Amino acid sequence: MRLKHLISPLDLTVDAVDEIIDLGLKIMKNPHKYAHICEGKKLATLFYEPSTRTRLSFEAAMLNLGGQVLGFSSADASSAAKGESVADTIRVISSYADICAMRHPKEGAPMVASLYSSIPIINAGDGGHNHPTQTLTDLITIKKLMGRLNHITIGLCGDLKFGRTVHSLINALVRYQKVRFVLISPKELTIPDYLRKDVLDAGKVKYTETDDLESYLPELDILYMTRVQRERFFNEEDYIRLKDSFILDAAKMQLAKERMFVMHPLPRVNEIASEVDNDPRAVYFLQAKMGVYVRMALIMHLLTLDTIPIS
Ligand code: CP
Repeated sequence: MRLKHLISPLDLTVDAVDEIIDLGLKIMKNPHKYAHICEGKKLATLFYEPSTRTRLSFEAAMLNLGGQVLGFSSADASSAAKGESVADTIRVISSYADICAMRHPKEGAPMVASLYSSIPIINAGDGGHNHPTQTLTDLITIKKLMGRLNHITIGLCGDLKFGRTVHSLINALVRYQKVRFVLISPKELTIPDYLRKDVLDAGKVKYTETDDLESYLPELDILYMTRVQRERFFNEEDYIRLKDSFILDAAKMQLAKERMFVMHPLPRVNEIASEVDNDPRAVYFLQAKMGVYVRMALIMHLLTLDTIPIS
């Protein structure tokens, strides 16, 4: 049966992920072919938490497909500020739009919305939990650059405790063959226990946990940097102590393979020095661009428009 909502990256089968990525790559080559496929359709973007890339790339995706967009970009700009529940909001929005992308600071809020919605709900990030469309963005970028999603060694560096992009990416990549993870973080910001036990250990996945970026850099095919998530810390002192634990600079890049790629979901704070931006291995701005194509493919998939032959 066709998926109705995308709440977790695991809602999509591996085959469906591969189809969406392949469609995204096709759209990238010939975007004009898809310019009218969503004519008459509307996307609602309900963002209760700040966003630049996710919200605007969703909006760009729908506009590129010939559809229209409506929505709000903060809880304060909606009736959530008057105490309206997510359940009531989505019941109403279901009669205004054909599909909805929702970001919320509370883990599980998009899942709750999906229970009350008659239109597809896409989780655009819920607390420290999941960010499945960032994962699709990451996967399409890896596929474009490396031509594969298996047989890779990926270093995930920074805030692995609160970083929802990391949690979603690990869940998605363990489903491919021979992916090895190097998990680089301060001891206070290691991955949550459930990921270590229920996903990595249970799946007999190869991984190393370390706080030594330099030693492992030469082994990596991909280095996925993340910022320390200030908004999820309970105290500012801990954030200040940990925020600059890892800073990738040109000197460190000399330790990496010639064909290693540096990714980052963005926004970055200090964790990648701007001098790295001109290194051809720095692909984080390409990654942000790939997010538009894969979101176009996802919208088509959830609205079952990907079955229409395109000439
Ligand atoms: N990567 C990402 O989610 O960026 P935004 O917070 O700007 O949407």
